[in-house]
Order: sequence, then structure tokens, then C-alpha cells
Amino acid sequence: MADDAARSRADLLQPLLEGWPYALIVGIGLAAVVLGTRPDLSPGALSLVNGVVLAILPVFAAEIVLRLRRAGRGYLSTIGGVTDVAGVVTIPLLLLAGVGLPDARLAGMLWLLKLARLSPALQVIGLVIRNEHRALVGVLIGFVMVLLTAGTLAYLLERHDQPDAFSSIPSALWWSIVTLTTTGYGDRIPVTTSGQILAGIVMICGIAGFALWAGILATGFAEESRRQIFLRSWDLVSRVPLLQNLEARTIADIVHLLRPLDLPAGRAVVRKGEQGTSMYFVAQGNVSVQLPDRAIRLPTGSFFGEMALITGGPRTADVVTETPVSLLVLDVADFRRLAASSPELTAAIRDEAKRRSTG
Ligand code: CMP
Repeated sequence: MADDAARSRADLLQPLLEGWPYALIVGIGLAAVVLGTRPDLSPGALSLVNGVVLAILPVFAAEIVLRLRRAGRGYLSTIGGVTDVAGVVTIPLLLLAGVGLPDARLAGMLWLLKLARLSPALQVIGLVIRNEHRALVGVLIGFVMVLLTAGTLAYLLERHDQPDAFSSIPSALWWSIVTLTTTGYGDRIPVTTSGQILAGIVMICGIAGFALWAGILATGFAEESRRQIFLRSWDLVSRVPLLQNLEARTIADIVHLLRPLDLPAGRAVVRKGEQGTSMYFVAQGNVSVQLPDRAIRLPTGSFFGEMALITGGPRTADVVTETPVSLLVLDVADFRRLAASSPELTAAIRDEAKRRSTG
């Protein structure tokens, strides 16, 4: 009984760990930490900031308990788990160690790491860096080589004219870093003609290096997103009997054409009278076809939106999600391509469309 009560209390708090409520709590905490460093805060505002920071600690402690209940002990050995715990215990530990609240409060910046949880795209960036690390490290090594060569040459070319700024290779390296990364900060500039030519070459190398990094990351990001969409579509295809019963080679071809789409309940996917540009397979959940005299429920495994693609006419009915649904979307151009590569599938879709229009 007590266990059930605790579980239902935890279920009530669950929405606070997802989406915008979670982002709001983290945002309020971070805003308090950042604003707390302003020297012109009134005593009232300062106690508000301190109050917010201290009040958020038990909220994040409750978050750890909830995540533990959901994911088990393994959660504590994940990066998210470790940073969550650090975000809760660091401020009290610093206070116990005699650090004043203004400085201890700064450990609240650890909460920034919680934001990574809110963005799947950010997690994709982590994967991209892991996938592309060889190419990225290659460019980085090139960067270091240019950096050291430029520092050495600048030292050789400028040391007599500017003995303070280019007194040694380490000192010249500061110039080469800022020239390579920001095309010159302006605090040190070469005065010899050969030094200026060197500066021009270093700037171009810097721009080329960043362009290469950006290119590697952008291509890796696009490839990873495509891979994730493919995996999700592959998973969803297995829930649609019409697709699942095809030959393995045809399924592999079709998965490339399908796009997953998750929608909440009560959303109109297709509107009567509109031009049809896609058809949909229901991989999970129910949708409802709103006919003038009745509504027809289409469950997991069915499809809709095919009639407009076949006839070229407008949509014949509204189709609304009854529950949260996972759909697989097939665009009209791909539907035509499919007709050529998989006639048996399109024949089944056409037969069902005929049955629906006469039924
Ligand atoms: P389309 O006309 O493109 O858009 C509305 C969709 O509702 C239609 O394709 C069919 O997929 C579906 N639909 C229309 N009439 C029926 C019906 N009688 N039974 C089941 N589904 C239907």
C-alpha cells in the first residue's frame, strides 16, 4: 500500500522531468546563479536568488530518486547520473567546507549539463564527434603543425624588430594562435614585410581549417540523422503487416523511402479537400477517419491517405489521431517509385482504396 502511494506520488512528479517544465526549472536555477553574481543586487533580490538556489536542490534530489526508480542503479554510473548527483551535493559540500554562499552558489552552473538531456540533437553531436574523431583529430594535428611553424617563423622574422612581442617561440605562439583562430586580435602585429606575408598565409590556413571542421561535422551530423531515421523506420516497419510481409530486399528499399512521424492525440493528419502529398502507415496507436455519417477507427498496422495519391484528387476525409501515434510517411514521388519496384504492395493498397471508396 505504502509502496503504491509512493509510486503514484512519483508518477505525479514524472512530467516535471520532461519537456518544458524541466527546462523551466533548470532555467530558473541557472538564472538565479547567473544573476546572483551581479554586485548591484538589492538585499531583497539577493535573498530571492539564494532562496531559489537552495530550494532547487531538493527538487533535483527528487529528480535523482525518480530517475533511479525509472532506470535502476545503472543510472548512477551514466554521465547524466554523475552530473546530476554532483549538481545536488556540490553546493552543500562547499558550504560545509566553509566556502561562502556567493561562491558555493556558482557550483549551480553544473545544472547546465541537464539541458543536454532536453535536446536529442545535442546527443547526436556527441555521436558525430565519436564517429568522425579520426578526421577531426587529423585536422587538429594539421592545426597544431601550422601553429608551431607559424610561431617559429614569426619568432625568426620579427624578433629583431619587436623583441618584446616576439622574444621567444612560446611568446610568438600567442600571436600565431590569435591569427589562426580570429584572423588577428590586433595586440601583436608583424611589422616586417615577410612577417605580414606569413600572417596572411596563417589567416588563410585558419579559415581553411575551420571550414574543414565545419564540413566534417555537418556531413557527419547529416549522416547520423539519416542513420537514426533509418533505424526508427526499420523498427516501425516491423509493426505494419502489409510492409512486414514483403521480401527482405523490398523492405530494405522501402525503409529508405519512409519517414517516421510521432504525433500526440487529437491532431488532424489529413484534412478533407486538401491536396494529397503523402500517405501514412500507422505503426503504433489509432487514428480515426471522419466520414460524414460515422467515424472509422484505423488501428496499428493500417494505412490511410492513399486515395488522394491514387486518384490525384483531393483528400476524401479528415483523419485525426485518437491516441499518440507513430506513423511512417511515404511521399507521393516515392509512392510512384514504389509502384514500379513493388507492384504487389501497391496492388494491395489500390485494392483497399477501391474497397474503401465503394464501402
Ligand atoms: P485520402 O482521401 O487521401 O485522405 C483521407 C483518407 O481517409 C483516405 O485517403 C483513406 O485513406 C481514408 N478513408 C476514406 N474513406 C475511408 C473508409 N470508408 N474506410 C477507411 N478509410 C477511409
